[in-house]
Amino acid sequence: MRRILIFDTTLRDGEQSPGASLTPEQKLIIAEHLERLNVDIIEAGYPASSPGEIEAIKEISKHIKKPIIAALARTLKTDIDACLKSLEKTRRARIHIFCATSEIHLKYKLKKAKKEILKLTAESIRYAKQFIEDIEFSPEDATRTEFDFLVEVVKLAIEAGATTINIPDTVGCSFPSQFGRLISNLRESVNLSDVHLSVHCHNDLGMAVANSLTAIEKGADQVECTINGIGERAGNASLEEIVMNIKLHPEIFKGETRIKTEELYKISRLVSHLTGIPVQPNKAIVGSNAFAHEAGIHQDGILKKRTTYEIINPTDVGVKETRLVLGKHSGRHALEEHLKKMGYHLRKEELENLFLKFKEIADKKKEIFDEDLEILLEEIKGRVPQVYKLDYIHITSGNTTVPTATVRLKKGKQLLQDSACGDGPVDACYKAIERITGVRGKLLNYSLQAITSGKDAVGEVSIKVKFKDRIITARGASTDIVEGSAKAYLEAVNKMIYKLKEKGKSSP
Ligand code: KIV
Ligand code: ZN
Repeated sequence: MRRILIFDTTLRDGEQSPGASLTPEQKLIIAEHLERLNVDIIEAGYPASSPGEIEAIKEISKHIKKPIIAALARTLKTDIDACLKSLEKTRRARIHIFCATSEIHLKYKLKKAKKEILKLTAESIRYAKQFIEDIEFSPEDATRTEFDFLVEVVKLAIEAGATTINIPDTVGCSFPSQFGRLISNLRESVNLSDVHLSVHCHNDLGMAVANSLTAIEKGADQVECTINGIGERAGNASLEEIVMNIKLHPEIFKGETRIKTEELYKISRLVSHLTGIPVQPNKAIVGSNAFAHEAGIHQDGILKKRTTYEIINPTDVGVKETRLVLGKHSGRHALEEHLKKMGYHLRKEELENLFLKFKEIADKKKEIFDEDLEILLEEIKGRVPQVYKLDYIHITSGNTTVPTATVRLKKGKQLLQDSACGDGPVDACYKAIERITGVRGKLLNYSLQAITSGKDAVGEVSIKVKFKDRIITARGASTDIVEGSAKAYLEAVNKMIYKLKEKGKSSP
């Protein structure tokens, strides 16, 4: 199997993401994790950009032992000298020289003729080569460069001493079949047998990974990429996606990387945290939803055999486990398994009962957490017969109206409805319940507590009500606090009725 080299440019191109700049200490932390990940080359920065950048690369060079440390330079002596200074202590150093070669860059950006580009390329490589053996050359904007000129520059760069030729799709304009053809044509036109052929793709059309992989399929043996795909504009090719594609398709790439894939998730979170660039939840490999399932059919499949809906074992990329998200699309199977993990083994009817309540709450809340389930469990476990059930509640409230509640209760098959005004929405609601049930109580205590997190948290209402000579405590939970209050009061009423029945008395 051939080796595909992973050239990580998170600390150079990745750091060029708008707003992503890193302190030297942060760059070193990322470099240490890249070493643990086992990348082959770390592009540590662009020394000519600032003295701080030189210091950061020096620090990285001092501490990082295994990977090659690369620094970027234009075809300028001063840039190359800055690279040499920052790479002084590096065990295995590389200078990465780039020069634009496309018509548009020559005419508008560099204002130089092709002849001058050839001269600059050769001279800068020869200059750097006196000090460092490992030289990479990139004809910037290669995908928009006239092919014959690209061939000429690449041949010259190799003659001058380049050991790696990197073909960048600088503006991310290429399509995989085009980029693959460019790589094949280049291999046919230039003798690349003594150098590494690398690619560096940007993601302006969302094709960075696809283009990079096509190039590897066509013979490239080094790929430049970043953690989470961060980089200029729409970013670079994402390292984790490239690596996992190569790992999962050895028949296509006939090669392998040395990446320790179990480190991928950790470094993804670290880079996101330090750069402040979030990882989209549905991002392949490292997104928070990459191993999460909500649909009942999928959850059922996963529980029967994980591979029905997962092509990667989450632990292979450092994710602890597959996550079955409990939400409105979840089914009984997932709920039952989740409850078992929480230590609850329910009987069939209990599970059915809980499932109905779970669906009710899932319609109002995006995700159901363990605390939500605990409340539901309590409701179904310690339940007295529900003579009255809440069917509907409507509140009119505000600082200019008298709070009014309309409540509809179910008693067997009967629907009973009434309205009442009160000092507040909860008071109005309790008065409406009293009118319907005929059970009058005095509220002694009322407290409300958020028991799950987030704006859509479940609130638990605890009350103490005095019915004649009896004091009853009850609780009700809902994402709507008035509904939670109504549930608590109904529970108190139902408990009261139950107690009276137990004593052989009829309901009041
Ligand atoms: O995108 C690009 O062309 C680059 C070069 C410096 C390789 O980042
Ligand atoms: Zn780039």
